[in-house]
Amino acid sequence: MRVLVTGGAGFIGSNFLLESVPVRPQDHFVNVDALTYAANIQNLDALRGATNYEFHRLDLRDREETVRTVERAAPDVVIHFAAESHVDRSILGPAAFIESNILGTFHLLEAIRTRPSGSVLFHHVSTDEVYGSLGPTGHFVETTPYDPSSPYSASKAASDHLVRAYHRTYGLRTRVTNCSNNYGPFQFPEKLIPLMIRNALAGLPLPVYGKGDNVRDWLYVSDHVSAIWAVIERGRDGETYNVGGNNESTNLALVERLCRSVARATGRADEELLRLITFVKDRPGHDHRYAIDADKIKRECGWSPTETPESGLARTVDWYLSHQDWVASITSGEYKKWLEMNYSERTGS
Ligand code: NAD
Ligand code: DAU
Repeated sequence: MRVLVTGGAGFIGSNFLLESVPVRPQDHFVNVDALTYAANIQNLDALRGATNYEFHRLDLRDREETVRTVERAAPDVVIHFAAESHVDRSILGPAAFIESNILGTFHLLEAIRTRPSGSVLFHHVSTDEVYGSLGPTGHFVETTPYDPSSPYSASKAASDHLVRAYHRTYGLRTRVTNCSNNYGPFQFPEKLIPLMIRNALAGLPLPVYGKGDNVRDWLYVSDHVSAIWAVIERGRDGETYNVGGNNESTNLALVERLCRSVARATGRADEELLRLITFVKDRPGHDHRYAIDADKIKRECGWSPTETPESGLARTVDWYLSHQDWVASITSGEYKKWLEMNYSERTGS
């Protein structure tokens, strides 16, 4: 197969390529990415010299260049990761989310529509955030009505709708996965887990939004990679599959757990890190709880997560401890400005 991956220099895309390219020598991978602040092409250094891999810089906001790139790549499968992905940034500046997530997806769908009918399978990587917020009980199923809260989740919802419409109207072969919160290597430290590990190591405040009682369902990134392959290989066209880890935690419990884990790994007292926890102003429109019912992907595609919460978090803490140079290399000027702005927005200091 010729596989076109968008956003392969970001967190999940990097993990997808690092895990897929070496074990699928019969497939050829073309990675296209605009290389925004969230990307790091060096994540993919291990693929240098691989004969079944190539990279091209492409901004999906450029419609003509997107059409030309798809034509040159002549893909059998497109896996669409590329997006602006951080909720807090979408609240402070929604425009880039509308442009990349909605228009970018539209351009890609249009480019695929120019390929011979039925020749391309389009896999759209989406999020559970499109469903909005749950109360204390219940789970998102594939038929849960869309009810997005942030500009980010609204832009992802719009892109999901476009994908479905292109299936129904133009007969494009499409599949959508709506996944819960991922964690693992190469995640940009603006997201909860890598941010907390980085700050704990540096002795900086650990900013917990609101009361820390919001709940997320955490999935180790490799399990997301295997879910995408399961849907490509055994899923059905026009269908949506929810993907989740059945691993719910409140943010506060997770941050406390990370503190203990980092303390253990660095020989510090738990209390030294736990006292860095700082409650700050809540995220506007903060969804209270996400929880995924992943029964459909299990039943139809035979997928289940393999990493346990304990092993996944231990691997992640180990990875960030042994990759502090990586964290330092990507957390320079723009990142520091962003963190300071986000922190002062929430603390008034
Ligand atoms: P990320 O922010 O780490 O990476 C996104 C990548 O997309 C970056 O490499 C960036 O350069 C690229 N990109 C952004 N705009 C682009 C454009 N206009 N043209 C080309 N490339 C562009 O994101 P991630 O966490 O790896 O998420 C990947 C996908 O998975 C996203 O679609 C996101 O909505 C979805 N998702 C993420 C999670 C999560 O927990 N991280 C969970 C479910 C779904
Ligand atoms: O659910 C899937 C989504 O998960 C993906 O679609 C998004 O791309 C991804 O960013 C993630 O969104 P969240 O908003 O849930 O992730 P984030 O890491 O930003 O925040 C997780 C929770 O932690 C959320 O309730 C907000 C809270 N939080 C976050 C940060 C960055 C804090 O309390 N403090 C923080 O500093």
